[in-house]
Amino acid sequence: SQAGEPAVLLLPGDGIGPEVVEAARRVLEAAAHAHGLRIRFDEVLIGGAAIDQAGDPLPEATLEKARRARAVLLGAVGGPAWDDLPVDRRPEKGLLRLRQALGLFANIRPLPGFVAAYGRSPLKPELLRGVDLVVVRELTGGLYYGPRARRALEEGGEEAYDTLLYRTHEIERVARVAFDLARTRRPVGQRRVASIDKANVLTSSQLWRETVRRVAADYPDVTLEHLYVDNAAMQLVRDPGRFDVLLTGNLFGDILSDEAAALAGSLGVLPSASLGGPVPLFEPVHGSAPDLAGRGVANPVGTILSAALLFRYALGHEAAAAMIERAVEQALADGARTADLAGEGEGALATEEMTAAILERLRV
Ligand code: NAI
Ligand code: MG
Repeated sequence: SQAGEPAVLLLPGDGIGPEVVEAARRVLEAAAHAHGLRIRFDEVLIGGAAIDQAGDPLPEATLEKARRARAVLLGAVGGPAWDDLPVDRRPEKGLLRLRQALGLFANIRPLPGFVAAYGRSPLKPELLRGVDLVVVRELTGGLYYGPRARRALEEGGEEAYDTLLYRTHEIERVARVAFDLARTRRPVGQRRVASIDKANVLTSSQLWRETVRRVAADYPDVTLEHLYVDNAAMQLVRDPGRFDVLLTGNLFGDILSDEAAALAGSLGVLPSASLGGPVPLFEPVHGSAPDLAGRGVANPVGTILSAALLFRYALGHEAAAAMIERAVEQALADGARTADLAGEGEGALATEEMTAAILERLRV
């Protein structure tokens, strides 16, 4: 292996995963080439494809290769072929185990303005003006990982509980990701973090709020505001342009990031990054779209924009990241649309044609 050539591990996965990952690989390679950079690609199985071949949604060999890579680019996992398996052996478990093994505690979902503008947003265009936000969601703690139980009651019926538990260090490290991110996005004077909690009701939210406030003291150039989650949900549809970085725990982030995604109008255009460990993971927000798989019509933009995030956050190569984003924006501005974005009677591009439209617009 060549020193200085970053290794990117491709995990195409299931359904449309292989189609959109191949599109993104071509764009990664072209943008790297334009900047005199070479990337070494390797590709292994995950999810249903890995279950079929190796009986495990995350074979040891896949995890080992992920640990040695500079970054991982994933398509999607899952589909009807594996729906009858028990929860613990399903394709999705492979992805959860991978995120956990890599220690990826911060999930980042940007909603760039151009994606909202050219998507099929349910919001009026004037409401979308100025939208350019990113949700930073804590990914490995909180309600989804706290102590839980379910048991029968003597008097009949059952009881069940989950626990929303956060420790100071878990809040602190994800807050730092959010504030560091805010510093890279906007000039001084316009940097904002909105921390989301329910501190009027939840003790864990009080710790969240105090900890975030303490971290904020190290970032005097970033303005911090605290919002209750119910108010944040309302503001996201009433005035999304007011947000820059939204910082949330696991549960609230799961819900709010899907709400933010809905503002874009199609799942097919949204990228994500999972950070925090030594090897970051990049993937589109959408799933394996079994209804589209194998037809060559899936929108590759979410995965291609994930490749841009890979340049930005894994390789530290802002110029290549920006080049990809400009090419996607230009292609959309020129009317390039896959079926999920095309209006009635508009000609829709196939995955390969959309990819070609973006490749043609990659310019230094
Ligand atoms: P989905 O995201 O796969 O599909 C939802 C809808 O969006 C479908 O109508 C689909 O055609 C459309 N869509 C998704 N991606 C698109 C793209 N790139 N271009 C155009 N249209 C697109 O979610 P769904 O249907 O709930 O789940 C399908 C399978 O994917 C399930 O097995 C689920 O478990 C899995 N899944 C995997 C995820 C992952 O790997 N991270 C995330 C979400 C679901
Ligand atoms: Mg979700």
